[in-house]
Amino acid sequence: MLRLLVLGSAAGGGFPQWNSNDAASKRARAKDPAAPCRTQSSLAVTSDDRRWVIFNASPDLRQQINDNAALHPSNGLRHSPIAAVVLTNGDVDHVVGLLTLRESQPFSLYATERVLSVLRANSIFNVLNPEYVERRRMPLNQPFEVCDRAGDGTGVVVEAFAVPGKVALYLEDASAGANFGSRPEDTVGLRIAARDNAAQCFYVPGCAALTGDVEDRLAGAPLVLFDGTLWRDDEMIVAGVGTKTGRRMGHMSVSGPDGTIAAFEKLGVKRKIFVHMNNSNPILLADSPERAAIAQAGWEAAHDGMEIRL
Ligand code: MLT
Ligand code: MN
Repeated sequence: MLRLLVLGSAAGGGFPQWNSNDAASKRARAKDPAAPCRTQSSLAVTSDDRRWVIFNASPDLRQQINDNAALHPSNGLRHSPIAAVVLTNGDVDHVVGLLTLRESQPFSLYATERVLSVLRANSIFNVLNPEYVERRRMPLNQPFEVCDRAGDGTGVVVEAFAVPGKVALYLEDASAGANFGSRPEDTVGLRIAARDNAAQCFYVPGCAALTGDVEDRLAGAPLVLFDGTLWRDDEMIVAGVGTKTGRRMGHMSVSGPDGTIAAFEKLGVKRKIFVHMNNSNPILLADSPERAAIAQAGWEAAHDGMEIRL
């Protein structure tokens, strides 16, 4: 058994983003039911309904824990069902929530060696006292069972694999050429499975392109939660809210001939859900033609609190 809980379905900035004054953000602030607020990118998974693994620790993690009863303390004066945190990259929207988890609570933290080195280089993360929080290197292409701080298995198995992406914005090296110094371990996708492999899914909140290797992994999967950052590559430029394309930010876009919908057409994935959706993406709006278009193509837009049992 695997139980998934989408803690945050938006990309960095959330929806509405604090400084966004566009029509969609205004609708969200006005509590329009077709434009529900969304917190930043995170997924929680359990295989025993008791201990949870958090995939990416968003800046909204405190609110996400408060909003989801499954993550509330339930045993003694200090307790958390969060046994471990697994990171898919070192982006701000995926690591800042670690600072929320700083209250001498035991858990284990998994990331690639590259992302662990980024955390080590930022001394603010030393608020995670090593006496309580054990940082563990996540290998690539090698399934492992996520364990809690004491080393007990959670029943959740993870296999990380490199996907095309970009180094975190705050680490970009303009002198390093077109990829800003990005390395293969900067961005990973994850296969998440129950210990007995009876249930499995893929979580890929950031991906710049579908390589043959990634296609082979995802083909025929029962469930994929995938990067839905932008509807079209130049949408932030066209809307006048940014200067970067999706490609420049390390994200493939949902629509178009090179887009995610087209790329998945031949993969035979049974259930396809967009996560990490930017506040500029019209699929956030339940009544938009773009939302109708993804539904027509067999895709769903995740929402905060969305629960899936496998
Ligand atoms: C991204 O997904 O592109 C990043 O989270 C952007 C950011 O650092 O804000
Ligand atoms: Mn992001």
